[in-house]
Amino acid sequence: MIKYIGSKRVLVPRIAAVAGILRDRLLSGEAPTALDPFCGTTRVAQALKREGFTVTASDMASYAEVLAATYIATDGSRVRRSELQAKLDHLNALDGVPGYFTQVFCEEARYFQPFNGARIDAMRTEIERIAVSREERAILLTALMEAADRVDSTTGLQMAYLKQWAPRSFNPISLRMPELVDGPGVAHRADANALVPTLEPVDLVYLDPPYNQHSYHSNYHVWETLIRNDAPEAYGVARKRVDCRTVKSAYNSRVAAWRAFESLVRSVKARTAIVSFSDEGFFGRSDIEQLLGDAFGDVVAMPHSHPRYVGAKIGIYNPKGERVGRVSHVRNREYLFAAGEGVSHVLPDAEAA
Ligand SMILES: C[S@@+](CC[C@H](N)C(=O)[O-])C[C@H]1O[C@@H](n2cnc3c(N)ncnc32)[C@H](O)[C@@H]1O
Repeated sequence: MIKYIGSKRVLVPRIAAVAGILRDRLLSGEAPTALDPFCGTTRVAQALKREGFTVTASDMASYAEVLAATYIATDGSRVRRSELQAKLDHLNALDGVPGYFTQVFCEEARYFQPFNGARIDAMRTEIERIAVSREERAILLTALMEAADRVDSTTGLQMAYLKQWAPRSFNPISLRMPELVDGPGVAHRADANALVPTLEPVDLVYLDPPYNQHSYHSNYHVWETLIRNDAPEAYGVARKRVDCRTVKSAYNSRVAAWRAFESLVRSVKARTAIVSFSDEGFFGRSDIEQLLGDAFGDVVAMPHSHPRYVGAKIGIYNPKGERVGRVSHVRNREYLFAAGEGVSHVLPDAEAA
């Protein structure tokens, strides 16, 4: 899995456990369905798929759509792994051919060492030539993105790169077979507020929108460009794609975020919901509780405290590498809400406990 701010790596087991309880105690039926319209790395969507839900995963980002096509829409039990492995071996054996990626992200910026950049360029071109289906293309692109992530020189955000090459960036890039999940699923790329009203009812919706002004499109612009393969004009020290100036999400705006979230919650056709929320975000806890209670009838809040992302621990530095600011805190509080008729009877309310 790629490094991703706001990814629910630590919370996934808890979310999966809550989803399992909702499935067993509130959602009768043979084939429960779930929707994750802000799927990011697809970590949570994968956990829901493993819990037996048929998941629809979507996100605004092209790289997230590729991850969703790999981990959610692909049925791992139907994939011919030996053929796929042969293609991964073929990609791993290619010599580097420097192109846009090398020039912009390894020479003008320093996200990866140029020798790896040249191999990424060569592999990216070759994937378009050898992939025989949307599914296979997504799996190969996922393998490439995850392999590149293992040899990058960042703290997990593509707003800046490390002053000194990270030790891992000296390793030669090497693609691995993604750990595919068995079962059916659906992947989309869409704005959540546009997509949700068009979908059929689901048993469970998981909502994890961005919680502050930092745009994922800007924070992960290198993955966006790698997946789109569109060689855009780049600007600034970070060499961001020029559309980072114009591609915006309502969830990154303090003024627009609540209205967008409220309308999403009111329009989603789901029997139950799980919502993650950070106390560092735009939304107030009691507002969320009230909204979910109104929309779903019953709501339970489960707090969880965890360390902030690694950049917060390293500190704040200016471009000369001098420490310039103080990090206010290194832990934040994340809430998990579960909503739906009867949730308070089947889930312990951790606040009350
Ligand atoms: C907090 S992250 C989700 C992390 C995910 N749950 C995980 O574990 O990896 C929020 C995601 O919402 C996406 N996003 C932002 N605005 C969006 C919108 N309007 N519609 C759909 N996705 C959006 C971002 O690209 C990002 O992947």
